[in-house]
Amino acid sequence: MEKLKISLLVVAVFLVISLSTVAATPGKRQSQALGHLYKKKMNRTSGINKTPFKPIHSINKTRYIHLQEGMKQKDRIQKLPGQPRVRFSQYGGYVTVDKLAGRALYYYFVEAQHSKDSLPLLLWLNGETSNWLNDEIGNAVINDETDTKGMYDYFESHALISDEAAFGIRKYCNFSSEGSNDECIAALEEADKDTYYLDIYSIYAPLCHNSSLTPQPKLPSVTNFDPCSDYYVYAYLNRGDVQEAMHANVTKLDHDWEPCSNIIGEWRDSPSTMIPILRELMANGLRVWVFSGDTDGRVPVTSTKYSINKMKLPVKTRWHPWYLDAEVGGYTQVYKGDLTFATVRGAGHQVPSYQPKRALSLIKHFLSGTPLPDTTIYA
Ligand SMILES: *[C@@H]1O[C@H](CO)[C@@H](O)[C@H](O)[C@H]1NC(C)=O
Ligand SMILES: *[C@@H]1O[C@H](CO)[C@@H](O)[C@H](O)[C@H]1NC(C)=O
Ligand SMILES: *[C@@H]1O[C@H](CO)[C@@H](O)[C@H](O)[C@H]1NC(C)=O
Ligand SMILES: *[C@@H]1O[C@H](CO)[C@@H](O)[C@H](O)[C@H]1NC(C)=O
Ligand SMILES: *[C@@H]1O[C@H](CO)[C@@H](O)[C@H](O)[C@H]1NC(C)=O
Repeated sequence: MEKLKISLLVVAVFLVISLSTVAATPGKRQSQALGHLYKKKMNRTSGINKTPFKPIHSINKTRYIHLQEGMKQKDRIQKLPGQPRVRFSQYGGYVTVDKLAGRALYYYFVEAQHSKDSLPLLLWLNGETSNWLNDEIGNAVINDETDTKGMYDYFESHALISDEAAFGIRKYCNFSSEGSNDECIAALEEADKDTYYLDIYSIYAPLCHNSSLTPQPKLPSVTNFDPCSDYYVYAYLNRGDVQEAMHANVTKLDHDWEPCSNIIGEWRDSPSTMIPILRELMANGLRVWVFSGDTDGRVPVTSTKYSINKMKLPVKTRWHPWYLDAEVGGYTQVYKGDLTFATVRGAGHQVPSYQPKRALSLIKHFLSGTPLPDTTIYA
């Protein structure tokens, strides 16, 4: 069989769920939790370990690798409640990552409808699992200092905060050092207040004003993002019959499933930078793509640009729009060493939710190893 080519797609958008509503919804609590993490990491005495991940080159196979026989068949999902007839096989269950510590990672796997033995395997990891995954993927927020600076610059350049707050942040905040002064804190608080009632994961998106479920959710559409869709996902994935069909929650946890749970309340480690890992992947010949939905205010495009600039890579293909259906799908720049940066126009943090068609085009180009088209003709 042909040697499997592995490439890595870095999801520069790591925070998991879209936020839409005010006050006490799971989403808002989560955005606050993440805001707190950002703040905590700037606090000298917070005790968060920020040292970069060390890639692990050899692991204890007895401890971490277990017999696979029969496992795939055991995880086969016969039918999901309410799912129409599908012509692909689906699997779901837990991958034990540390038996002694009692840790397992849930996966859902869908096989291609055809040529499943030769098509590439696409692995999508949501962030925030860095206490589990040893080396390659962690917090895809790339580099704290530039990410934080880029976030406030985005707020300023998108007319979300006052000139005074922006000036205060520039003058008094130093995101490369821990600890901050009162002037900096005051400016950050003003910025937080001004952005509080936005869906910060997609600053122009509507909010969900009524979380009651209707018998049928709105049909997903490329142009009309439904900000209430999270509530349907939440309701569905908390159904006992769904969990049973998916081989999920086998230990009967004492809390609900949430898109991004607060159950682990205390952060103990969160590396300040992923740049060494990106360099390591590139040095080993992996293709790295970093994409960024350009209406995300939490891990905005400015942050990602600053973080990539920090790597000081020579440019291979200069910045240009890329096209889909004779429209600009976003912008891209390719660096030597094989790193592609691509924005997705009009997409928030969860790029495929907000711009499914553009996200699909992006991933097709990534998988086929072809550059994003710089002319409308081939789009
Ligand atoms: C920094 O963290 C310490 C310990 O958690 C806490 O007592 C203190 O209030 C924090 N300082 C700021 C400015 O948040
Ligand atoms: C590997 O893990 C096994 C099982 O947990 C343990 O008994 C053994 O001592 C470990 N070996 C090393 C070299 O750490
Ligand atoms: C910011 O902090 C870093 C690390 O403490 C320090 O090296 C740098 O000089 C500071 N920058 C400014 C502009 O004060
Ligand atoms: C919310 O939506 C439900 C279902 O469509 C509806 O019955 C209810 O009246 C709505 N509530 C408000 C406050 O609009
Ligand atoms: C797991 O199942 C229990 C019992 O059915 C349920 O109360 C709990 O909310 C579920 N937890 C998760 C994380 O799905």
